[in-house]
Amino acid sequence: MKFFIDTAEIEEIKSLSELGLVDGVTTNPSLIYKSGKDFKKVIKEISTIVEGPISAEVTSTDCQEMIAQGQELAKISNNIVIKVPLTADGLMACKKLSSNNIKVNVTLCFSASQALLAGKLGATYISPFIGRLDDIGTTGLNLIKEIVHIYNTYKKDIKTEVLAASIRSPLQVSQVASMGAHVATIPPKIIYQMIKHPLTDIGLDTFMNDWKKTGQKF
Ligand code: E4P
Repeated sequence: MKFFIDTAEIEEIKSLSELGLVDGVTTNPSLIYKSGKDFKKVIKEISTIVEGPISAEVTSTDCQEMIAQGQELAKISNNIVIKVPLTADGLMACKKLSSNNIKVNVTLCFSASQALLAGKLGATYISPFIGRLDDIGTTGLNLIKEIVHIYNTYKKDIKTEVLAASIRSPLQVSQVASMGAHVATIPPKIIYQMIKHPLTDIGLDTFMNDWKKTGQKF
């Protein structure tokens, strides 16, 4: 499974790239706002660090404007993926941009039937938001399972990858992996939490102490 990093913070992207854990990056207007940086400049900067796909989201709800913004953003670098919302206008923009060989990530997906539409219209990625579904008392993970099943059933026609988004815990990452999601976009904090285990720390302390007791030098 590919790991995309869900952030617009340059330092976080650099650190995780050094760890070798960044296959791509996803951003959205809220993450751009949080970064305090200029949208196009920050996308350009990310593209100098990461070779994999970088999602940049359109900021209009109108199809023609989404297409124009998508075409402009795609010129920033050849690894830019245009994020459009799962609305009728967004789906039309998805079809147009995809047919012009611009990769599209259809975002704000909350149902399998929405995902089916994005798949039919040639999206490169569909982003089901599992955390936000959990927030309203439903089980977001079920959506990943359902979409993976539908896309696998029609894999001859649907090439869209399932990009599990709105991830809130390390457990959700392993759960979406076991369900066959192609990609998970993960906040940096969750990646660091995935590394940690108290038994690893305790075990390592014991090994280091016992090594000291041997009195040997490497
Ligand atoms: C990424 O593509 C999504 O925009 C992001 O995962 C949403 O996460 P949130 O629900 O934690 O804001």
